[in-house]
Amino acid sequence: MSEFKNKTVVITGAIGDIGAAMATLFLEQGSQVCISDIFAKEEANKQQPELLKHPNLHYAMVDVRDYVAVSSWLEDCKVRHGSIDIVIANASKVTVKDLTSISAAEWMDEINVNLNGSFHVANSCAKLFQENQIAGSIVFIGSWAAHAVHSNLPAYTVSKAAVRMLCQTMALTYAPFGIRVNEIAPGFVNAGLSKQVWQKEPDAQEKAKNIVPLSGILESNEVAKQVLWICSSANRLLTGASIVIDGGLSLVRP
Ligand SMILES: NC(=O)c1ccc[n+]([C@@H]2O[C@H](COP(=O)([O-])OP(=O)(O)OC[C@H]3O[C@@H](n4cnc5c(N)ncnc54)[C@H](O)[C@@H]3O)[C@@H](O)[C@H]2O)c1
Repeated sequence: MSEFKNKTVVITGAIGDIGAAMATLFLEQGSQVCISDIFAKEEANKQQPELLKHPNLHYAMVDVRDYVAVSSWLEDCKVRHGSIDIVIANASKVTVKDLTSISAAEWMDEINVNLNGSFHVANSCAKLFQENQIAGSIVFIGSWAAHAVHSNLPAYTVSKAAVRMLCQTMALTYAPFGIRVNEIAPGFVNAGLSKQVWQKEPDAQEKAKNIVPLSGILESNEVAKQVLWICSSANRLLTGASIVIDGGLSLVRP
């Protein structure tokens, strides 16, 4: 029997590709899964009809920029299932504009979603774990982009680099309570904005694949499997880790 059976897993931004793949994988393990995203239920249903039909899945519209909304959603998940065991801070946005063209409002919003949103979810949940004496697991979805300068994605890379330090700081703060905090930082994934671009330009996907030293592009379910692995009790002493799964992409220098 899976160690994740009857565990409660909470995931933000889970109408998106990687979030939905993680929700699906935990449901397959017999977990109860609470997901959220910025969409109203009707739109969420349109985008992920199969996922939202699952009896062990509950969807809520929650904007991660809103600390109060995030805290009250987590409280609701806890009341609904009696506990939360795993939380995954996954919601994010990406603005493709360099520092000469990104506006202050665009910069702030990206930091707000990617960094502050991750803090809202992860730290609220850590406090909930602490108060209820739960040795829970917190996972941030970072990016290889935190490890390599991308002049066309400044807000994204800075926010993901900050998430990495947030992960380490939380890991140290909450270790005395048995709470583990880790990060999975994928490389190129056939998901989100990249997927949209590659669907229109298959040559660009081939080009991207060829840049990767191990010559491959991840699928969303492969990222989901890494998240499941990091949450496993086999990793009981793993905390503050940032696992970069990018086929060696972040090692490449021009
Ligand atoms: N796709 C890639 O190549 C790739 C690579 C490395 C890391 N990642 C990371 O993986 C995670 C998932 O990305 P994805 O590729 O599935 O992208 P995606 O765009 O499909 O999913 C992101 C989700 O976050 C949601 N979101 C955005 N703003 C929000 C807000 N304010 N409140 C709540 N939800 C909000 C979006 O609506 C969307 O459903 C992200 O953290 C991303 O940075 C993706």
